[in-house]
Amino acid sequence: MILVAGGTGRLGSLVVNGLEALDVPTRTLSHHSDGDLRGITETSLEGVSVVVSAVTGFPTQRPRDVDRDGNIALIDAAERAGADVVLVSVLGASPDSPMELFRMKHAAEEHLRRSRCSWTIVRPDAFKEMWVEILEQTAGRQQRPLVFGRGDNPFAWVSVETVAAEVVAVATNASMRGLVVDVRGPQRLTLDQLARRVMSDHGWQGAPRHVPRAVLHPMSLAPGAPGRRAHAALAMDIVSTQ
Ligand SMILES: NC(=O)c1ccc[n+]([C@@H]2O[C@H](COP(=O)([O-])OP(=O)(O)OC[C@H]3O[C@@H](n4cnc5c(N)ncnc54)[C@H](OP(=O)(O)O)[C@@H]3O)[C@@H](O)[C@H]2O)c1
Repeated sequence: MILVAGGTGRLGSLVVNGLEALDVPTRTLSHHSDGDLRGITETSLEGVSVVVSAVTGFPTQRPRDVDRDGNIALIDAAERAGADVVLVSVLGASPDSPMELFRMKHAAEEHLRRSRCSWTIVRPDAFKEMWVEILEQTAGRQQRPLVFGRGDNPFAWVSVETVAAEVVAVATNASMRGLVVDVRGPQRLTLDQLARRVMSDHGWQGAPRHVPRAVLHPMSLAPGAPGRRAHAALAMDIVSTQ
């Protein structure tokens, strides 16, 4: 049995579908049906041989609560149950990243490496579909997407289907334990270039609009999701996912 924590999410639901297509028995954990991951109990892991973590709280919850502490609770529970762990982290996770989410992912990775679990870490770059949706939604009547910040930092935007296929492959292959698997899309583009591509695909004229960093700085101090989004937009201008 493979337990997919975050199995209702954008990535997790595709992972569940992929495992089911292989006739692998799966169980799904989610925030809305099972509560906060930090309160995970032994019963969730009964009969589970592999745990996949595809959870994130960003941007509605604090990364330290879900991406670090939720994952730590899950890893500890997997260790007690003797299950392997496949942790979906992020390309660029590091202790000194300008992005809090990336620092918390790194902390979860480190906890996993120190655990007695057999593990695989999957590190995808930014999900292409999610960002294309954001650009389409912010385009509005002017048909000009909003790029938060300079948008001049390149990412290898990757299709979530590609990431899901990779997660299914490592979850079902014990020979992948002890490996960090980076997952990148085929082309590095800046957010501005991605926005221009979205415009061209829709036949929209002109250029993307930009929210200047000077506007994002005060926004990043706001509490909750709006502040976290602005903070992440500032960090995306400088974070490295090479
Ligand atoms: N999006 C990207 O560009 C990107 C890039 C690289 C890596 N990743 C990583 O890929 C993974 C999947 O991302 P995604 O975009 O598919 O995420 P998503 O759609 O936001 O789904 C998040 C999942 O986590 C669950 N969850 C949230 N808070 C929780 C909590 N406190 N306790 C238990 N479960 C909780 C959600 O449950 P509910 O459905 O009940 O809310 C949902 O199933 C994450 O680890 C993310 O960090 C994403």
